Amino acid sequence: MPKLTIDDQTFEVPEGKRLVLAIEDSGIPILHRCGGYAKCTTCRVEFSVGEPTRTTQAEDTRLLADPNLYGRVRLSCQILCTHDMAVHPVLTMHNADVTDPGKRPEDHITPEAVWMQKS
Ligand code: FES
Repeated sequence: MPKLTIDDQTFEVPEGKRLVLAIEDSGIPILHRCGGYAKCTTCRVEFSVGEPTRTTQAEDTRLLADPNLYGRVRLSCQILCTHDMAVHPVLTMHNADVTDPGKRPEDHITPEAVWMQKS
């Protein structure tokens, strides 16, 4: 099983699990305000280890639209845990001014993943 390090805690997570859910199910209340559809960017994470080289078309399009985000963060709702990773969730219920994290994302990538190499 891949190892997922979130800040200073490391967890084993099921191979292929959606990263946003792996983070949430590890007890970190990450935001996912659009329900995992690559629209809100609140599920963004900073990678220190294992940033995937592939991206979904939806993630690439959404991050390209915001020069403050592109190249700095990734959308955890668009990433699967296929290998060891270390991340920092940027927005959680602990530091954001919201009353709920958003609808729980589905188990699979939404919208349907169209994979491409990260530019
Ligand atoms: S972009 Fe909204 S949950 Fe990922």
